[in-house]
Amino acid sequence: MTFKRHTVTAALPYANGPVHIGHLAGCYLPADIYVRYLRLKGEDVKFICGSDEHGVPITIKAKKEGITPQQVVDKYHKLMGDAFKDFGISFDIYSRTSSKTHHETASEFFKKLYDKGVFKEEVTEQYFDEKANQFLADRYIVGTCPKCGNENAYGDQCEKCGSTLNATDLINPKSTLSGEKPVLKKTKNWFLPLDKMQPQIEAYIDSHKEWKSNVFGQCKSWLNAGLQPRAMTRDLDWGVKVPVDGADGKVLYVWFDAPIGYISATKELFMQHNDGINTLSPEGRAGEGWEKYWRDKESRLVHFIGKDNIVFHCIIFPAMLMAEGSFIVPDNVPANEFLNLEGDKISTSRNWAVWLHEYLLEFKDKQDTLRYTLCSNAPETKDNDFTWKDFQAKNNNELVAILGNFVNRTLVLTHKYYNGKVPETLEYTKSDILLLEEISKFPDKIAASIEQYRFREALSELMNLARSGNKYLADNEPWTLIKTDEKRVQTIMNISLQIAANLAVVMEPFLPFTSKRLGGMLNLNPSLKWNDAKRTDLLLAGHQINAASLLFEKIEDEAISAQVQKLADSKKANEAAGKAIEPSKAETSFDDFSKMDIRVGTILEAERVPKTDKLLKLLIDTGFDTRTVVSGIAAYYKPEDIIGQQVSILVNLAPRKIKGIESKGMILMAENSAGELSFVSPLKPNVNNGSGIK
Ligand code: 2FM
Ligand code: ZN
Repeated sequence: MTFKRHTVTAALPYANGPVHIGHLAGCYLPADIYVRYLRLKGEDVKFICGSDEHGVPITIKAKKEGITPQQVVDKYHKLMGDAFKDFGISFDIYSRTSSKTHHETASEFFKKLYDKGVFKEEVTEQYFDEKANQFLADRYIVGTCPKCGNENAYGDQCEKCGSTLNATDLINPKSTLSGEKPVLKKTKNWFLPLDKMQPQIEAYIDSHKEWKSNVFGQCKSWLNAGLQPRAMTRDLDWGVKVPVDGADGKVLYVWFDAPIGYISATKELFMQHNDGINTLSPEGRAGEGWEKYWRDKESRLVHFIGKDNIVFHCIIFPAMLMAEGSFIVPDNVPANEFLNLEGDKISTSRNWAVWLHEYLLEFKDKQDTLRYTLCSNAPETKDNDFTWKDFQAKNNNELVAILGNFVNRTLVLTHKYYNGKVPETLEYTKSDILLLEEISKFPDKIAASIEQYRFREALSELMNLARSGNKYLADNEPWTLIKTDEKRVQTIMNISLQIAANLAVVMEPFLPFTSKRLGGMLNLNPSLKWNDAKRTDLLLAGHQINAASLLFEKIEDEAISAQVQKLADSKKANEAAGKAIEPSKAETSFDDFSKMDIRVGTILEAERVPKTDKLLKLLIDTGFDTRTVVSGIAAYYKPEDIIGQQVSILVNLAPRKIKGIESKGMILMAENSAGELSFVSPLKPNVNNGSGIK
């Protein structure tokens, strides 16, 4: 079926942190390439996104930063929106789920399902934190995933195996608010009966065998396991209030409201762009324009997401849409796998990421270099790795050496030989004709890859076009021929300029900033469309081009080492922080504890143990005897500095021989996050040797 228009969405990111390269590579960049391509094809397309401002990820962040959830979303919504804009992600709208339109739209949607009797209303036992006095939904609870054994699965999802879970499925559940084991408490919620809807959903998935195999495969495995009813409401206070009686203190499940955010954002788009076709009603509500994109069967809905969102977009949201009845369902859900960074999972909390706003401070105006690297290495079929070395190589060996080099040689020679005027073609050779034929096929080849969501392949075809240009120049050597056959050079430069013009058009979805610059240098008609690049006469003889400058600059080793060092510093800080928050040991009894006889003592003598770096031999006055203890503190204390120091000593530890010295007892030490040791000493000076430590 051919479609009249496209509604393309990119996952609404949680407004709880800045945007990093993993986000960009996961869904925003592929979605942007796809949409830019559709626009160039002259298709009717709307590109929808916004911040996901509800759910536990937001309230957890608020708690951590000591601010309100509203302050969190206000801060990050702006930061994220700006970062997307800076990298040329060309949303038609970047909205937010805290908007009035969204609250109304999500409420109406829920109410419609409620009125149709879709939901199963049920009182069930849910986990409750007695200390925090609240129910523990979603990320407020962690435990072991019953499916894959991941110990940090959330109450609604295991990010390791992608399973959707109910909090009560978790093994060893623990509250993330208090760390306590939660209790079960009865509460009423509204469930979407996915179990009853299974045949309908199964038929829908089976009708989309063309989906990417990772997406289709995941859907099938959930269906095979059997769908379960799923609560669409939560006992929380941050979110869209449940719009029915008897639901005080309850909000919509964030995964119920967030995808409806795509619909609300489309409505808002038409409120902003009252272009005469899409009217505003007197109350300022959206007119009918948005509806075409969601209700007309000839509209095609495509969701770009990361793999952790597959179940929500392929099963739960379509089920909601089917139950509601008046909307189209997703036609495709091209999900990417994850991007790692230098071999390790990208993590906000561990600061193991390349943040977009920081990147631009260090690589000013090099948005396209990052877009290029992320696209050529996109995690389309498996997790992939971003490394700074690869980033440098892609810039220097591909963008500079192939694309930039071809364009630069072409423009510089045109200025040199023809004062920037496109020369005439006089006579084509056989190889010229073959090349022109080859060139005119590129737009279709690139398009075929884009339409199958194979953006890496599409980009490599684009580079092949530049390679063809480079080869043409290298084979024909106009700089040599100019001395002997000026007429031939005219044709060679004309053809090279046509290739440069075609490149400017087809690179636009991938490298929009460079496309614009190249278009400016070539003085190209800015309204050219994708199919124009099939022609080989975009620049007519006599057309004046503008001054040329380098499209890409080499990235030096120093810039890369600085980035690698930044990550090494992060790793160090993480390791230190990781040590600082070592989880507590297993519970012990008071009896066991009181078996330990810990006393205050004073160091009388201290000397290094020969042939060791770490050990000091100490003579300790324990108040009731004088004894020798060997302690591994030589790296932190000089013997002469600690004579007279009061310490804590475990006196009833069985004696041990260390380096031939009998050590009787152990000095207690505090270990900081860097692994450095310091004495645990009484804080007041009036504590006698032999005093017990309890
Ligand atoms: O995983 C996430 O970041 C979610 N906020 C994605 C939501 S996508 C959609 F449903 F809004
Ligand atoms: Zn799991």
